[in-house]
Amino acid sequence: MASYSLSPSGEQFPLPGPDDDAREVQRLEALAAAARKEGQEVVVVMGVGFVGAVMAAIIADSVGAGGRPGKFVIGCQRPSARSYWKIPLLARGESPVKAEDPAVAPMIARCVLEKKTLVATHNSECLRLADCVVVDVQCDYSKRDLGNMRSGEAEMGALEATLRTIGEKIPPSCLVLIETTVAPGTTEFVAWPILKKAFAVRGIASDPLLAHSFERVMPGREYVRSIRDFWRVCSGCTAEARQRTVKFLGEVLNTRDYPLTVMDRPIESETTKIVENSYRATILAFLNEWSLFAERNGVDLIKVIKAIKVRPTHSNIIFPGPGVGGYCLPKDGGLGYWAYKHILGFEDQEQLFKITPTAIDTNDTRALHVAELARDALRNMGRYIAGAQILLCGASYREDVGDTRYSGSELVVRKLTEMGADLRVHDPYVDHWYELESQESYPAPGHSWARFFRNQGELSRIRVQHDLSEALSGVEALILAVRHKPYLDLEPEQVVRWAGGPLAVVDCFGILHDDRIRRYFELGCEVKALGRGHIQRIKEEVRSKRR
Ligand SMILES: NC(=O)c1ccc[n+]([C@@H]2O[C@H](COP(=O)([O-])OP(=O)(O)OC[C@H]3O[C@@H](n4cnc5c(N)ncnc54)[C@H](O)[C@@H]3O)[C@@H](O)[C@H]2O)c1
Repeated sequence: MASYSLSPSGEQFPLPGPDDDAREVQRLEALAAAARKEGQEVVVVMGVGFVGAVMAAIIADSVGAGGRPGKFVIGCQRPSARSYWKIPLLARGESPVKAEDPAVAPMIARCVLEKKTLVATHNSECLRLADCVVVDVQCDYSKRDLGNMRSGEAEMGALEATLRTIGEKIPPSCLVLIETTVAPGTTEFVAWPILKKAFAVRGIASDPLLAHSFERVMPGREYVRSIRDFWRVCSGCTAEARQRTVKFLGEVLNTRDYPLTVMDRPIESETTKIVENSYRATILAFLNEWSLFAERNGVDLIKVIKAIKVRPTHSNIIFPGPGVGGYCLPKDGGLGYWAYKHILGFEDQEQLFKITPTAIDTNDTRALHVAELARDALRNMGRYIAGAQILLCGASYREDVGDTRYSGSELVVRKLTEMGADLRVHDPYVDHWYELESQESYPAPGHSWARFFRNQGELSRIRVQHDLSEALSGVEALILAVRHKPYLDLEPEQVVRWAGGPLAVVDCFGILHDDRIRRYFELGCEVKALGRGHIQRIKEEVRSKRR
């Protein structure tokens, strides 16, 4: 086993040994005692990943009475080879997550180095010092098959282990606030029993104070605001837990401008999160069939959506692009489906759940159609996918962010690679596409989408390029996968010049205006697009003019 943990930038951090433990506990005790003297509450954030690291800083940056810091925060991360590096990084005042939001890095540096309200540790003994514990460890939904979420399952292991540790260590009066997106029923029927059992073993007579309030984080430039200045939903297992949660969130978030919604029971706030994201996944999936309809019947779905959006009641209709992606939408409905049987005990999940599984499965496989379009576009130019040089522009799941988790682009690359194409990737916001580069171990060993395709080995060599002219040199097909700003203004003349001749262009996200589509045809290119059947008409016009 590795004796160090490797950060994404390649820095090695030796894993702490048992000898370090006693010293670390003394250090934390001294820091917590000093904070208490200043009138600060001690908050432990368990899991300093994408959400936990920023939430920890937001709490540490909050102000209490007299404008002075009201909370002292300890970010805690288990010392695994995979994740330990986040602790020494955070301890230096550096963000363990790469965020487009310019507010993240200075806020973490300010809290760690200047205000000294944020520290990091691998040692869960810090839980003994806590007045409040915020749980931000992951609870994934892992799918066994591509396009069949019903055969998947919730991965409760990390969350359950964290809760057992919390139960063994926290003071009886400590509030435990689960912010992880969980399968409905988890807080009351999984977490609470774990804590109660641990309390019983310790001879504590009182009920653990347990609550739930989910995150609505949006990766991008508004990352901090999407946690701090945004509406929150919360609930507690008991009235006391609920009251403590309302007080705590009021002290650390902007609940004055964004009032809390307080639910009676945790299953209601848990279900809110799952339904919220299943709703979004469903309205996206619903457009997949109309996207194919449009392609086959001369309709431009982009214009259809624009026309519909004018109605205020329909203003949130959105084009699905090459699938949906992101961390939450592909998995959250699965947590609800799974919980109905495995936590809540019902056996008729097949009869009950029709729309949510179909939506997730549709979104999970939509990107495969992009490979068909690329194949057809090349064929119309007398070329083949096998052996073709193809450039994919946009690896992330959303425009103008570098978050590649479960992006449709990954499926496009994998499918085209399976069909024999030679792929290159450009993305201005992504430095490393870990889903490809580290496909043996990322997101976890055996969990890569590589398992659904053949001939994926070479993809670990792909490096994301940042110079578009260089990336385009000599390509036979260009796939515009994401609406990143630099792609919106690309002129066909320039693209053809950089490529060194006419090429096939596949637009996955309504990126090309009609005049640009026309220009590509005039230059001898072939154009295909998701949901844009009118392209055939433009092609005919250009051809008949030529004749
Ligand atoms: N990232 C998003 O965009 C987003 C948006 C909304 C909600 N959420 C939800 O927030 C939650 C956290 O997501 P994330 O993106 O931060 O996940 P993440 O994987 O980035 O972070 C989770 C962290 O918890 C750590 N961890 C696991 N077990 C632990 C243990 N026993 N003790 C201490 N640390 C442990 C992991 O090593 C990891 O660093 C999830 O429920 C997710 O669904 C995420």
